[in-house]
Amino acid sequence: MIADKNKLIHAFGALAELGQEITVRASFPETMRTSLHLISGSLGIMRGGIAKYSRYAHEMNLVAARGLGDEFPLAMSLCEEDERQFLTNGIYPIDVDQARVLPYFQVYSNSFDRRNLKLFVPLIVRDEMVGALFLGEKATGDAYTSYDKDVICAMGRHIGVAISQRNLLEEVQRRADENRKLFDELHLTYTDTVKAFAAAIDCKDKYTEGHSVRVGKYTEIIATELGWTPDETEGAAVAGYLHDVGKLTVDRRIINAPYRINAKESAELNKHPGVGYEILLPIRHPFTDVPLAAKYHHERLDGRGYPDGLYDKDIPYIAKIVNLADSFDAMTTDRPYRHRRPADEVIDDLKRNSGKQFAPELVSALLKAMFSELTGEASEKRFRRLLGREYMEAENLVPMLKTALNGTAPKPVTVLSADQLTVN
Ligand SMILES: [Fe+2]
Ligand SMILES: [Fe+2]
Repeated sequence: MIADKNKLIHAFGALAELGQEITVRASFPETMRTSLHLISGSLGIMRGGIAKYSRYAHEMNLVAARGLGDEFPLAMSLCEEDERQFLTNGIYPIDVDQARVLPYFQVYSNSFDRRNLKLFVPLIVRDEMVGALFLGEKATGDAYTSYDKDVICAMGRHIGVAISQRNLLEEVQRRADENRKLFDELHLTYTDTVKAFAAAIDCKDKYTEGHSVRVGKYTEIIATELGWTPDETEGAAVAGYLHDVGKLTVDRRIINAPYRINAKESAELNKHPGVGYEILLPIRHPFTDVPLAAKYHHERLDGRGYPDGLYDKDIPYIAKIVNLADSFDAMTTDRPYRHRRPADEVIDDLKRNSGKQFAPELVSALLKAMFSELTGEASEKRFRRLLGREYMEAENLVPMLKTALNGTAPKPVTVLSADQLTVN
């Protein structure tokens, strides 16, 4: 009686430990090994194994083994009849000697006999076979008692749940991977579409070929320099690529006029930010307010921009970045009525208009990015690709940038906001 009591305490101790093992341990193979060890130890079993069952492949794969030797198969197939029988049997030990009629035991009888395996326990969770437990003879040579079998069932249930959890985790992982792949593909489609759009916009303007693409790249450079996250930076680039999308509706003759356009033509051209906003508004842009960037990329800090003459704090930040990128590209590329301006003039212009048209910290960011490339601090030759080698090798560019950077260190913008103007 006392011996039975001790056995009971021992078995329950092992069961409690097994429960903890399954909930705490992170490594599945280790959980399986320890589980097998606990069963063998609590009942004095010489050898055994745990297999995980894949019902799609109809295959059992050994995930833990003890004393089975190298010859024991790592993977075993089940036919539908086996699976049906095991499901009907439920999670209760099957005496191998009495189940020889099943195809499974006929196919693997040698392996079972060689290691003297006595019990086979299908592990079933929510009417689904998730694995199996094989157990060899007891160390004492005694037959398994019904008490032993009840303990095995209880432990088998725990192991089954652990395998089922693992399967769920793998399924979640697989779906997450699938979603990630779909997302990546969608993302690629989105960026390709944006670039195709930018190319379409640029096609219309033969004199500023590649303008939208370059503005996208300068916007990206500035956002990177500001320390924006990769998603935010990509969003900024999209805003740059699409800032002039409204030009698609402007008469080609106005866009391509080889002279300074008149007031009427200018009014027509100046509709493009508003039209761009309308075009972009129905599209969902995940990281940046692309429609607002299009609408306000011609606003200036001092309120002298268009279409709304907004002041500094009322202009969306992304629109300020695009404005700088846009102006920088306009200054550094040939236009129908003038050549591009040399680097020293451009730097000078940016400095003079810092706080008037451009946000000073953005001018600093753009010049800093250029400076880092020239001094080799940044390995990527982005400006060189966009402006050409000759332009970037202009005499004294590095000292000029250095001086400009010292003079354009971020300082508070002194331009009055729209609110202040109305109060005063
Ligand atoms: Fe524009
Ligand atoms: Fe533009």
